[in-house]
Amino acid sequence: NFQEPINEPYLQYAPGSAERKVLKERLKELKQEEIEIPAIINGKEVKTDRTQDVTMPHNHSHKLGTVHLCGEKEVKMAVDGALEAQKEWANMPWQERVAIFQRAADIITGPERFTMNATTMLAQSKTPQQSEIEAVGELADFLRFNAWYLTKIYKDQPYSPDGMWNRVEYRPLEGFIFAVSPFNFTAIAGNLPSAPAMCGNVAIWKPSVESVYSSYYVMKVLQEAGLPDGVIQFLPGEGADVGEPVLANENLSGLHFTGSEPTFNHLWKTIGNNVDKYKTYPRIVGETGGKDFIFAHKTADVDRLVIAAIRGAFEYQGQKCSAASRMYVPQSFWPEYREKLLAEVKKIKVGDVEDFSNFMGAVISRKAFDKISGYIDYAKEADDAEIIAGGEYDDSKGYFIQPTVILTTNPKFKTMQEEIFGPVLTIYVYEDDKFEETLDLCNSTSPYALTGAIWAKDRYALNIMADKLRQAAGNFYINDKPTAAVVNQQPFGGARRSGTNDKAGSMVNLYKWLSMRSMKETY
Ligand code: ALA
Repeated sequence: NFQEPINEPYLQYAPGSAERKVLKERLKELKQEEIEIPAIINGKEVKTDRTQDVTMPHNHSHKLGTVHLCGEKEVKMAVDGALEAQKEWANMPWQERVAIFQRAADIITGPERFTMNATTMLAQSKTPQQSEIEAVGELADFLRFNAWYLTKIYKDQPYSPDGMWNRVEYRPLEGFIFAVSPFNFTAIAGNLPSAPAMCGNVAIWKPSVESVYSSYYVMKVLQEAGLPDGVIQFLPGEGADVGEPVLANENLSGLHFTGSEPTFNHLWKTIGNNVDKYKTYPRIVGETGGKDFIFAHKTADVDRLVIAAIRGAFEYQGQKCSAASRMYVPQSFWPEYREKLLAEVKKIKVGDVEDFSNFMGAVISRKAFDKISGYIDYAKEADDAEIIAGGEYDDSKGYFIQPTVILTTNPKFKTMQEEIFGPVLTIYVYEDDKFEETLDLCNSTSPYALTGAIWAKDRYALNIMADKLRQAAGNFYINDKPTAAVVNQQPFGGARRSGTNDKAGSMVNLYKWLSMRSMKETY
């Protein structure tokens, strides 16, 4: 089926709905099982002698299972197997290759829909709606739209004057791709190895150990869809244990990464140090951090802006790389805005995501909890900032942090600049007549440039904002929240320190995993 796909519609899980009942049942079943998560190498389960407990962020005493951690030995086995698998995979008709991923999308949106949703809820502490839009919708969209984009790429051929036949062959890269995925999106985790694999590459996939539970189910779906053994090797493990031997291998042909800026920098440097070894120059594609903004002009719609800030900053506990974390509000409507915003923040319910009435769950880990609460404590002590909502945290049962709003008089305050990756929004109130200077400040305050949103009814003001903030965000929203990009609607990625901006779920991204051969034949 090579028709242009449509975005997968979401289920709502409304009270009393059939889907809500099925999902609750699936959650219960999964929680009763304790699973062992092995590596999957050449299609076989591989257990190692190092294991780690897998627990739930919102109830850290509940064990979901045990994961086997890989190291040099498993890496060697996986790379050898992948290179062997590549011989057939790279030469398979592309239609057959692509069909496997389309089948995986049909499994994700069909028989395994509730498993995908439930495992993401449990592993990442996501609400059912947040899980549905990504572990089901976005993941299926990535697979289906990438398949569609590939059909267009393969058909794109050069001009042939009389007497010759010019063509381009879109070959996979020689070697293997290293896919390193983050904890926060099951969709991104699944896409990182799948996009290169769809192009005929083989991939070593290192999922985040923090969310390995949901990633494992993605791997199982890919296998069920008919992915040949060895094409994607699933290697849970600590960064260095898996990363170092992978990057030292002469056959590395690419890195497909989403995660933190320091990790990406480390991987890039390691690739740089090894560059003399590689048989081909590895392609490097990465999406890293963000310090995503909402900038409001005095003509902004105050009520809608409240909702944008709440959803942008606090959905999924602010752990989206796109989450709003700094905001610029004009003095003229600040008193009204403050009152309305704080009234809405107060209504937010934080707790166990299995209680479907909660808007926020827990943050992913103790490490994240300590980091985020550290920023909150810093703001509590500071002279040039105050906490005007939230500020409490409690890790006795799960890693819960209340949605927190910091007000600062310092536009360069620490929490206006650094990525927190938690439910913390910092607001700076500017004088209306300093509109343009404040835009310059917004542009220069953070090294990142992932997402941003501007708000105004005045089109002239919107133009000034869009102009001045041209390089400040790879995903730019006008009168909307800065999160929740949809595949094939808003291709996702940022530049500056936010990454290489090879938009996830786009032709630009797929071209990275293809190596063209130009062929001229005369007759
Ligand atoms: N694609 C995700 C979003 O836009 C990260 O929120």
